[in-house]
Amino acid sequence: MCNGVCVCGVCVYTHTTRIGQGPRLSCFFLQLSHPLAGGKWYKRHLTYQIVNWPWYLPQQQVQLAVKVAFELWSNVSSLVFWEAPGGPADIRLTFFHGDHNDGLNNAFDGPGGALAHAFFPRRGEAHFDNDERWSLQSGKGRNLFIVVAHEVGHTLGLEHSPVRSALMSPYYKKLGKDFVLSWDDILAIQNLYGKPSRGSAVQLPGNLFTRFQAWSPGIPGSDHQQETFGSHYCQSSFDAIALGKGLYIFKGSHFWVVSRGGNTTGPQPLQAKWPRLPAAIDAVTLSEADGKFYFFKGGRYWRYKGSALEAGFPRKCIASSLPRHPDASLYYQPLRRLVLFKGPKYYVVSEESLQLEPYYPRSLKDWSGVPSRVNGALTYQDGFVYFFRDEQYWKFDPAELQVVATGKWAMELPWLGCLDRNTGQTLS
Ligand SMILES: *[C@@H]1O[C@H](CO)[C@@H](O)[C@H](O)[C@H]1NC(C)=O
Ligand SMILES: *[C@@H]1O[C@H](CO)[C@@H](O)[C@H](O)[C@H]1NC(C)=O
Repeated sequence: MCNGVCVCGVCVYTHTTRIGQGPRLSCFFLQLSHPLAGGKWYKRHLTYQIVNWPWYLPQQQVQLAVKVAFELWSNVSSLVFWEAPGGPADIRLTFFHGDHNDGLNNAFDGPGGALAHAFFPRRGEAHFDNDERWSLQSGKGRNLFIVVAHEVGHTLGLEHSPVRSALMSPYYKKLGKDFVLSWDDILAIQNLYGKPSRGSAVQLPGNLFTRFQAWSPGIPGSDHQQETFGSHYCQSSFDAIALGKGLYIFKGSHFWVVSRGGNTTGPQPLQAKWPRLPAAIDAVTLSEADGKFYFFKGGRYWRYKGSALEAGFPRKCIASSLPRHPDASLYYQPLRRLVLFKGPKYYVVSEESLQLEPYYPRSLKDWSGVPSRVNGALTYQDGFVYFFRDEQYWKFDPAELQVVATGKWAMELPWLGCLDRNTGQTLS
């Protein structure tokens, strides 16, 4: 992305494994044409967009955590932030896998290591490693709220602070009784943008932000919730997809159904149709053999006939030699079996025995051209197998055993229900 005309301050979070020390953030700057660091925005009202979502965190919680992360900065400065869910936006937050065109040195590296990086104004981008174990609870994984707040600081023009307790310190900051922003962060932002016009700064202690699920207001699925927090799958991505009488699209705690005629209903809460399912899922398949739904989440899987959970479910994946947290699953007609995808491997499972078939797992290379870590997969009625990851799709021909087309699903596959049939524009 960097070429001779942009000034990219790329700040990379990394952590060492040294005992007794928190994750360390190291920063380096790629300054290609001018040795300018920083820079600032010349307006006070800035919009932001969450371009896509980490698939295993409820979207409402991520949205709230991001909102509050921006609020930390707006509460102590003259800045005001608005979310612009469909874009365009001044500041874009995007979750990427591995190399994402920021130069190979800045490719993400899976769990641990680099967590995120951001660009100084006025590029307006912060990138997060989609393979990191992000969390919005204390004590688990990497706290997404604190990392978003830090990276947003960079997008606003702040460099690393030498003050150990500062959010902008290159050290990962744990949430505790202290304020999230130290005096040094506040001075730095006020230096660029001045004090809030709305009176004195309001700050809350850090430990208030350790449980975003407790913050989620509203009843899931209520219209209000939808208006406030819902982001349509068409605008970002989804967690899982399956084809039955209609197309079922899952995202966070909700699902949509796109009918064959192209009518979309939803979002509805998962648990309204499938009681006892967890709040979000990793993968889903509708068996073409018996019309049963299989849902996978974490280390367990559920099987439903209609809305009835079958006896003996959920089961442990490990008991069937299946991977935990599969990326996607589908019913594969040529084998008349379920296939699960996880990282560089795939698994073939018999529905009768619910056991992994002999000689599996095998390498994903058998599916020539299919990328790893897809969000969802299904066999469509045209006989092709479609794989989805973020905004891309890959169309796989089971006869040729290779990918024969790829592109952006929201724009190119009308059966996903994202094209406005009147205008040909994507719906927002
Ligand atoms: C920002 O200030 C408002 C009150 O003006 C307060 O309700 C809110 O919790 C504050 N947000 C943060 C993140 O401190
Ligand atoms: C789509 O929904 C509308 C309104 O509910 C209905 O009138 C129409 O017949 C539906 N179309 C199809 C193809 O199902």
